[in-house]
Amino acid sequence: MYTLGIETSCDETSVAVLKNLTVLSNLTISSLKAHKKYGGVVPEIANRAHLNNIDKVLKLALEEAKVKIEAIDLIAATYKPGLIGALLVGLNFAKALSVTLKVPFIGVNHLHAHFFSPFLNYKYKLRFPFLGLVVSGGHTSIYQIEQIDKIKIIGSTQDDACGETLDKVALNYGLGYPGGKVIDKLFEPRYKNAFKFKCGKKGLNLSFSGIKTALAYKKNELESKKKRLSLDLKKKLLSSFQFSLVEAIVKTIVEASKTKEIKRVSCGGGVIANSFLRDRLKQEQKKESINFLIPPLEYTQDNGAMVAGLGFYLYNKKGVASSLALAAGSS
Ligand code: KG4
Ligand code: ZN
Repeated sequence: MYTLGIETSCDETSVAVLKNLTVLSNLTISSLKAHKKYGGVVPEIANRAHLNNIDKVLKLALEEAKVKIEAIDLIAATYKPGLIGALLVGLNFAKALSVTLKVPFIGVNHLHAHFFSPFLNYKYKLRFPFLGLVVSGGHTSIYQIEQIDKIKIIGSTQDDACGETLDKVALNYGLGYPGGKVIDKLFEPRYKNAFKFKCGKKGLNLSFSGIKTALAYKKNELESKKKRLSLDLKKKLLSSFQFSLVEAIVKTIVEASKTKEIKRVSCGGGVIANSFLRDRLKQEQKKESINFLIPPLEYTQDNGAMVAGLGFYLYNKKGVASSLALAAGSS
């Protein structure tokens, strides 16, 4: 079965073609560059970029997959959560294709698609129950998945998402936007305790706004004494920050696994690309015998493949498609 997956919830216009769960192509055009000078995604710019790029990305994805559009059996698209105008572009495009090609359409939750990404290409076997960890620019959530249509949130951030926190701190430290990857590169383990920073944690819920403010205060305090921060001092501050953020995530997901007595955790989202977080999860896997399913880097950021994969699975499991009246939702 050939599934077309369409993702336009934020700044990535992404289209993928899958044969069952095997990814034949996964093409993305990002409007990231256009947002850089604003220090965050500007919805109107993202929406227009999706409109300009979506048919181009579709054409490229079909070409790379060597699949003709008439061969597509199912169209999957993200319908929530995300920027409403951005979602509407992909969702309406998918619905129009479904009507034209006379094939079913299925709406996919973007966050569920993130924790589905480790199952692409049959890297891991899909077995229930499992926990889902989504760490991205817009979300930090833990899910309990009993069945693919029986999912509940058991923990989440109470304020900023972890990726948003990394991005805001990086911007404040003059490292541009988005800064998660830059902080990842600057991280030096020997500096992990150079400063003491702490994330908020209550049960399985996290809070990152306090640590973001602490980093801003520390910078102001140091600059008022020394004027400019040297690269080495920045590394000390940001390594301590990233260490605290990653440890809070790791501690919470290990606690969730123990409390729920579920030893499989499927991970997804842009922040799961973080090298230190990936290493720490591997360490915990050995120590706590929890099986962390970690997607390859290409499926960590927003992508059409994860949407097609979950769409394919949902459609085959439930045997029903979504109504064309399915509305886009920001949350
Ligand atoms: O999943 P994603 O592409 O978009 C959302 O759905 O939000 O995630 C984007 C986030 C950004 O905050 C970005 O800074 C972060 O993922 N990110 C990273 C790394 N690569 C991307 N954070 C930490 N380390 C990385 N290597
Ligand atoms: Zn995402």
